Amino acid sequence: MGRLIVAANRLPISVGKREGRFHFRQSPGGLAVGLASLPETLERLWLGWPGISSERLKPDEKEHLRAELKQQHSAPVFLSQRQIDQYYLGFCNKTIWPLFHYFPVRTVFEQRFWKSYQQVNHLFCEEVLKIAQPSDSVWIHDFQLMLLPRLLREKMPELSIGYFHHIPWPSFELFRLLPSREEVLEGLLGADLIGFHSYDYVRHFLSSVSRIAGLEHMLGQVNVHNRIAKVDAFPMGIDYERYAGAIGNAEVKKEVDRIYKIVGKRQIIVSVDRLDYTKGIVERLEAFDWFLSTHPEYKEKVTLIIVAVPSRSGIEDYKQLRSHLEELVGRVNGEHGTIGYMPVWYLYRLLPFAKLTALYNAADVALITPLRDGMNLIAKEFVATKTDGRGVLILSEMTGAASELGESLIVNANDKAAIVEAIREALEMPVGEQRERNRSMQERLQRYAIERWSTDFVHALSEIKAKQEDVSVHKLSASAQDTLKQTYEAGDKRLLLLDYDGTLVGFKGRPAQAGPDAEIKAILEALADDARNTLTVISGRDKDTLDNWLGTLDIQLIAEHGGWIRQRGGDWRSFQPISQEWKATIRPILDLYSDRTPGSHVEEKDFSLVWHYRRAEPALADVRTHELRDALVNMTGNMDVGVFEGSKILEVRKHGINKGRAAEYLMERENWDFLLAIGDDYTDEEMFAAMPETAYSIKVGSSISKARFNVDTVQNVRNLLKKLAE
Ligand code: G6P
Repeated sequence: MGRLIVAANRLPISVGKREGRFHFRQSPGGLAVGLASLPETLERLWLGWPGISSERLKPDEKEHLRAELKQQHSAPVFLSQRQIDQYYLGFCNKTIWPLFHYFPVRTVFEQRFWKSYQQVNHLFCEEVLKIAQPSDSVWIHDFQLMLLPRLLREKMPELSIGYFHHIPWPSFELFRLLPSREEVLEGLLGADLIGFHSYDYVRHFLSSVSRIAGLEHMLGQVNVHNRIAKVDAFPMGIDYERYAGAIGNAEVKKEVDRIYKIVGKRQIIVSVDRLDYTKGIVERLEAFDWFLSTHPEYKEKVTLIIVAVPSRSGIEDYKQLRSHLEELVGRVNGEHGTIGYMPVWYLYRLLPFAKLTALYNAADVALITPLRDGMNLIAKEFVATKTDGRGVLILSEMTGAASELGESLIVNANDKAAIVEAIREALEMPVGEQRERNRSMQERLQRYAIERWSTDFVHALSEIKAKQEDVSVHKLSASAQDTLKQTYEAGDKRLLLLDYDGTLVGFKGRPAQAGPDAEIKAILEALADDARNTLTVISGRDKDTLDNWLGTLDIQLIAEHGGWIRQRGGDWRSFQPISQEWKATIRPILDLYSDRTPGSHVEEKDFSLVWHYRRAEPALADVRTHELRDALVNMTGNMDVGVFEGSKILEVRKHGINKGRAAEYLMERENWDFLLAIGDDYTDEEMFAAMPETAYSIKVGSSISKARFNVDTVQNVRNLLKKLAE
């Protein structure tokens, strides 16, 4: 493996300028820590925006900055004020951020924002290309750079590209509102590995992939124009030991004592977030207000400390939120406060580590109730800090963290009554119960700490790359084609087994409904003209269709996956007697499912019944296929039939009827000196498996196959056959 290049909107170091001098500040967040925990042998480089507009930098200052950052293994991507306004504040934070957090009413769709987003993604691409080598891996972070994977893939196809999405991926219903939805999906699918915090986001993303990009996926693998991309969940953790060890730090202890001295015997509830409308800060303060009104016995006994970290203050929604929150703090304090008792303490700033962990340590309760949050690391930090086991976490079920912190008091952040009740329960929870809940969560957080997140991701990226190479090494190269042609020419008895749909006509996933075109007919005729060839079209289609389409050609036909054979110049003959009894039981079930699933239909053949759902609404078809497959597998247990799942079909077929058996039958009848089998789907796998090692078996498409070689398209097959017929 080469180096790891990290591309993120922000560098781990934020640059500021005061009175003509630069100052550097460590950007907060787990990402830098996570990457620091990767093995030292892995060389890292970080690329991102330094947090200052390029207008504020003279050319020599830019160079100076570049040199400074280089020392820290980072490189700047400079953005103009216009780009900051339109890409960062615009498309990122006025379009994607609200939409992906389920705030469509706050979402602004503006063409100039989108244009600027494209431009900045191109800019990042250029910067990465300046330093990347084909053996490097690039790990792209978050929604600011969703187009970058594809841009890089186009310029450097061999590159290992990973993308991690730190915010929620919304349901298809929300995502479809985005005018540039196709471009965004295509951008992301340029990556080899796409990671999310939770399986819910993975599920939503894959549903958009199938419904908007029209691409199929199986077990988290998406077939992207003949390349496999993997989609998986990697819940991000925290630097557990750092938080758990905080109380051992003298500065933290001093700060805890200071807080206790000021607050006295009062219980403390803490609330920490970036000041963002997705975090539900106003809603939680309203709930606290309600709590004090409905539980007056708690007045003077509990203090809520709100830490709101300044964020995106150039956006109107954020400015309004700040004034709304500050007004509300004033009102609640005015209403419930007394001389000597201020119910809400409000801090509008970023707290340094020691002060923050002291606050976590001193608090009895953490009230973390975002309306929507990709993960929420604050909740994890709070639990990790509580090494004596005391403290209660109240957590919104709309956070990614909720799926890992099930022992917290989980609430619906929109249900104020539930928050009020959770506050009461938390303040009154016996210490034994607090300890029990925290211990289980702490064990989990320790196991899934930040280093696990980054190492798992990097490992999964190299695994998927290896898998892709496994497929690509089988690509039928030009020299392999030459050898194939030489072997063909040297052969006197050649058996050619060619699948029809997705191999000779149409393209993968979209079998041609019409018959053969002039080009393929001419190719087949030319091959059939050579007496040394036994040219066989071997298809799942019924015999009448094959007769209609190919009957006039002087070739051998095999229909229904080997149910019927028509030798050259002969009549159709079935491999097995046709039995109808099983169909009487199975057909009504398929009919029922086809009635319940608009767009699907049943096809009846002599040896099989097929339920086709290509035209059905994908999500519904997905549910129905699972149900139907279970029902069929149960029902057919003692029948002489099998249930098979193919591309947008479920098929119930007589045992012993398959292309493998048919191929074996043909191979036994002659001493062939050249064997060629070409196909594209699961039914062709049995044929490939039946071929001896020396045979040429070729799969159309690049998924894992038993075939010796892969080609990308139907056109590649046609070109190969033309070359043989020359
Ligand atoms: C969220 C996003 C990050 C972003 C951070 C701070 O956590 O997932 O990508 O960097 O908020 O937001 P800012 O706009 O200040 O970078």
